Amino acid sequence: MKRKEEEQALIDLANEARKRAYVPYSHYRVGAALRTKNGRIFTGVNVESAAYPTTMCAERVAIYKAVSEGEREFEVMAVVTDNGGSPCGSCRQVMAEFGLEMRVLIANGEGEIVKEMTVAELLPEAFTPKHLENG
Ligand code: THU
Repeated sequence: MKRKEEEQALIDLANEARKRAYVPYSHYRVGAALRTKNGRIFTGVNVESAAYPTTMCAERVAIYKAVSEGEREFEVMAVVTDNGGSPCGSCRQVMAEFGLEMRVLIANGEGEIVKEMTVAELLPEAFTPKHLENG
């Protein structure tokens, strides 16, 4: 598959996953699909909680699923919301933990890319594991 087709397939998976978002409070559905360097794909949705701060974002669900299955090297993540919203600061930090080069495709509910960037661009001057090496 060509790169554009692969990206669209990943966006479509994120958009499909979005239907499973558990969002009784915000009603704001977020879907993510993460492709690892090994070619495995993990999806994620936001999971809200009556105790609001314990809500978890779709992007982090996808990353935590991947890490818990032994994957730590990521190539690209698609994030889909109705209005093409971008990843929150906490998600950017967790993305940065696993590398600044991952591409992030931000798409709207029609599955159209509204922005495409790297984690380095999403989180400039990131604090990363490197900063703890000589700590
Ligand atoms: N949300 C995500 O899933 N990802 C983000 O990066 C931004 C926010 C979720 C959390 C909450 O369930 C809803 O969107 C509204 O904040």
